[in-house]
Amino acid sequence: MSKVKVIFGSTTGNTERAAGLIAAALGGDAVNVSSASRDDFDADLLILGTSTWGCGDLQDEWLSSSGIIDTLDLTGRKVALFGLGDAMGFGDTFINGVGTLYRQLISRGAEIIGKCPVSGYEFSDSSAVVDGEFVGLPLDDDNEPEKSEARISAWCGQLKAEAGL
Ligand SMILES: Cc1cc2nc3c(=O)[nH]c(=O)nc-3n(C[C@H](O)[C@H](O)[C@H](O)COP(=O)(O)O)c2cc1C
Repeated sequence: MSKVKVIFGSTTGNTERAAGLIAAALGGDAVNVSSASRDDFDADLLILGTSTWGCGDLQDEWLSSSGIIDTLDLTGRKVALFGLGDAMGFGDTFINGVGTLYRQLISRGAEIIGKCPVSGYEFSDSSAVVDGEFVGLPLDDDNEPEKSEARISAWCGQLKAEAGL
């Protein structure tokens, strides 16, 4: 049985809720990044989730803890990302926190899986869009909460296929 770990930072609980659904769908554990140990990052499939605050900033708990990523050797490791954001209120920094984590992860050699098409989202700019696609799953519980469960379920199916779970 592969080990799946979902590590999240969440200020008002939206990312935490999504992390729980993702962990349940994939048979893994969800851990808050503020209490995550180095061992938690040593999973067969590592999934990191963050919301975005301020004007395109990483969520606070990630801001304090993301330095741990810079100490990891993720060469050849599969890592997936998801992010909570508000495409109506912050359409030009939509889920930028995911873009920040993405750049940190690829600098450590990670292979990013679970990329998503931009179609179906209305926003004007996002640092999480690279080569025309989101580098992780965008969720918008502020404007379309009714879509999150189906998006998570489809994405988990995609991850199972891409990670060979
Ligand atoms: C003051 C403030 C700033 C925000 N900034 C952004 C932003 O720059 N980009 C974005 O996509 N969402 C932004 N959001 C929306 C949050 O990311 C969104 O509400 C998210 O669901 C919160 O998730 P959490 O409860 O897990 O922290 C902001 C929300 C607030 C209240």
